[in-house]
Amino acid sequence: MPRPDTLPAWQQLFAHREVVGAGRTPSPHRTPGEPGWLRVSAGPLQADLSRHRIDVRGLELLCELAEQAGVQTRVQRMLRGDIVNPSEGRAALHSALRAPGGSADRPPLLLDGRDLRADIDAGIAAQARIAGEVRHGIWRLASGAPVRRIVNLGIGGSDLGPALALDALATQADGPACVCVSDLDPRALAAALAQCDPASTLFIICSKTFGTLETLANAAHARDWLRGAGLPETQLHRHFIAVTAAPERAAAWGVPTEQCLAFGEWVGGRYSLWSAVSLVLQIACGPQVLHSLHRGAHLIDMHFADAEPTTNLPLLMGLLGVWYRNVLGAQTQAVLPYAWPLRQLPAYLQQLEMESLGKRVDLDGQPVAWDTGGVIFGAAGSHAQHAFMQLLHQGTLLLPADIITFDESAALEPALNANALAQAQVLHTGGHVDAAPGAHGNLPGGQPVSLISSARLDAESLGALLACYEHKVFTQACVWHINPFDQWGVELGKQVARRLAG
Ligand code: F6P
Repeated sequence: MPRPDTLPAWQQLFAHREVVGAGRTPSPHRTPGEPGWLRVSAGPLQADLSRHRIDVRGLELLCELAEQAGVQTRVQRMLRGDIVNPSEGRAALHSALRAPGGSADRPPLLLDGRDLRADIDAGIAAQARIAGEVRHGIWRLASGAPVRRIVNLGIGGSDLGPALALDALATQADGPACVCVSDLDPRALAAALAQCDPASTLFIICSKTFGTLETLANAAHARDWLRGAGLPETQLHRHFIAVTAAPERAAAWGVPTEQCLAFGEWVGGRYSLWSAVSLVLQIACGPQVLHSLHRGAHLIDMHFADAEPTTNLPLLMGLLGVWYRNVLGAQTQAVLPYAWPLRQLPAYLQQLEMESLGKRVDLDGQPVAWDTGGVIFGAAGSHAQHAFMQLLHQGTLLLPADIITFDESAALEPALNANALAQAQVLHTGGHVDAAPGAHGNLPGGQPVSLISSARLDAESLGALLACYEHKVFTQACVWHINPFDQWGVELGKQVARRLAG
């Protein structure tokens, strides 16, 4: 696969920069909805991409860039299980976990000569069995009590996905109360345990490697807490389920094999919500909610694989990201969900985008000569407006924003979507604040905005949204010729900390 700076479209895009002007210059104002401007549908999502600092020719060049970078070929390679994570020698098959139907309905999925379909089906069945037993009071704890509370112990990808989904879909929860704890500081676990009764609390130890300091420290504290409550030592294991790609380590820690849900090394940590890492969500909300989450993501997988570039939402999101990052020099990107249940989305996307795209060598290990991932930040829109939106409106940074809304919010609080639209409009067109003195009231506009919406905030739209961002990241990684599935940069700090701790 080629380096981007060798591609004709890459050079042409830089030449095309003059059309819009770099940096924080006033926008070439356009009317949203003007013919030629993009409104794209993808599964349950609609996107209004009319407020971008790019013209039709620029978009054509971006689509040519995708073509020249071989994005579609790499998508196919990822989906069929090729080694797309060469520095770890792994495939990235999280999409296969959300494909519908039993193995008989799907084409073979070969990895090292082994068909993974049966393994995937068996994993899904084991997860459903355990979730059903816990939800329906069949699972008994050390004292014989059923489960009333669950604490998911994990960090990074073993926490952010479940925590986001539990929050986002909280109105659909009808199982035991669930909470996620990730921080190494024991006060985080202590705060959660203050709400729990040891006799009726189950812990899910969620860790792909089963070697992560934070999670194992919290698991040890949890076991001490249970012991301190005088529960019978021989039955303590009934309070722990493990979700991991290293089941032998979970067994060595003390989780019996039949209480361990294993998943493959071919599921990256930040993509692992699609694996048994979703157990806590399935227990809280039931099998249908998980099924809908998968359906939404699968709709986007098909859309990403099949839609034409000009109507392919994740592809366009990725290409626009390249345009702003590389050609116009943007360093940051804001994510603003106008939905309080999605307030953890920015944190989720920080791991997804920054761990995937924060790379300085290409797929061949050669230093990159172009910018790669930038900084993702954000908050629920209402909060953002009263905290950091000033910088987007009047600061000097070019700062693209994704504004996310749901039609159903209009019935909850009409001002919610009105505010979202107002922000999109003002970021785009700028204007002058009534009563503000002179230039202090000038807003230049010209900030790029994607307005992404769905009818409802439900499991299907959440699944679609997350898959959309995953494929956006994959698109950028393809263009930048980097590996979005490894994260070597986080390891040195762990090694040094181990040495310092003695
Ligand atoms: O340190 C970063 C990281 O490896 C992430 O990639 C991962 O999601 C997180 O730690 C947790 O890892 P594990 O699931 O193996 O505990």
